[in-house]
Amino acid sequence: MSLLKEKLASQIPALRERVHDLVGNYGKQTVSDINVEQLLGGLRGVKAVVCDTSEVVLDKGLIIRGYPIAQLVDKLPEEVFWLLLTGELPDSREIEDLQSELKKRSKVPQYLWTTLKTCLIKDEPHPMTVLISALAILERESKFYFHYSRGMKKEEYWEYALEDVLDIIAVLPSLAAGIYRLRYDKGHLINSGHDLDWAGNLAHMMGIEGDEETFAKLMRLYMVLHSDHEGGNVSARACNVIGSTLSDPYYAVLGGLASLAGPLHGLANVEGVKFVLDVLRTFKGVPSEKELRKHVTDTIAAGKLIPGYGHPVLRVTDPRFTAFYEYGKKVMPDDKMFKVVEMLYKIVPPILTELGRIKNPWPNIDASSGALLYYYGIVELEYYTLLFGMSRTLGILSQLVLDRAMGFPITRPKSVTTDWLFEAVKKSPEAVTN
Ligand code: MLT
Repeated sequence: MSLLKEKLASQIPALRERVHDLVGNYGKQTVSDINVEQLLGGLRGVKAVVCDTSEVVLDKGLIIRGYPIAQLVDKLPEEVFWLLLTGELPDSREIEDLQSELKKRSKVPQYLWTTLKTCLIKDEPHPMTVLISALAILERESKFYFHYSRGMKKEEYWEYALEDVLDIIAVLPSLAAGIYRLRYDKGHLINSGHDLDWAGNLAHMMGIEGDEETFAKLMRLYMVLHSDHEGGNVSARACNVIGSTLSDPYYAVLGGLASLAGPLHGLANVEGVKFVLDVLRTFKGVPSEKELRKHVTDTIAAGKLIPGYGHPVLRVTDPRFTAFYEYGKKVMPDDKMFKVVEMLYKIVPPILTELGRIKNPWPNIDASSGALLYYYGIVELEYYTLLFGMSRTLGILSQLVLDRAMGFPITRPKSVTTDWLFEAVKKSPEAVTN
């Protein structure tokens, strides 16, 4: 048994006991209300999901198992995965064991490459479509499905969910790098490096020309920063809801990834970098602060958003933005795109604050991440979402294993009609004004 599985096996009885205690002793206690605006507005602020892997605190940002994300920027994504699942950082023996477990499972079957090459790559689909299709094809390997269909016990669900999750995470570096090289005609596939870590291997197999060492560092940071963002964001919800039907982790992660292909979620990093490129094009280089201020004001006056600014939960600068920003200052301070990112950070928040139209004028991760990828020559913007997706599998699949461990049932809230809503608010008008 892997050390990760051993660790989880030792923790799970206590987790189940907590759920039992909460439901048994406090089951009927109300912990969150909902008003009409929230019901019709994406459930903003409603505490309707339980997720132990991480939380997003509105004035602090992402906290993974008690560690503010800023304290995890030098960790490997594998270490963060262990932390997400177990609540503890691994020691050196544990991380080596996890890395060797991932290596054992990392081979992408030849039938998948053959299918991808013949069916998908030729038609130049979106890289997210390729990744999602690849995982759908790999679903036939699901150990969860295999054992479920042969009558596994409820207590064993988490074990086979974990097996699938490790298998999925293990193939992602080869798959993501292979999709990059095949989809964008970068030449032959590059074999994985035996001594490399998960993200280091991704960097190696992408075959980026230039400073390989700092690119590998960026990939590690990228995978850590995007790994999780509590349980309420759309990819986490999608994966959680699908997983709650006992669809296996392959199906569940596909749902999460599909949601990341949306411009309001994972695709937002592309919008961020497009805005920066547009600035450089408009001004034929880096504009002056005065010019950029006018450009931003004109954009807002035209009814458009400044991509990467604002967030549904956060009310401060996203610490994930700060981590990328610090990286950029160290590695590429004179890069034109980074300079625009830097100037926007100075200019946009005061303008948005003055307008008073949004609750959070501060940048989120999407305002800085794309410029760093572009610096390394990844000019295929649609690929950025795939990298986000690869990273986010760490969080949403950790959540899925814990959901199965805690025995959470199928998600099935009650829906109401708008007629019902009108009746309800007429019956208690004070509830509307509160
Ligand atoms: C995320 O990382 O998932 C995004 O910031 C969106 C969110 O948290 O709602």
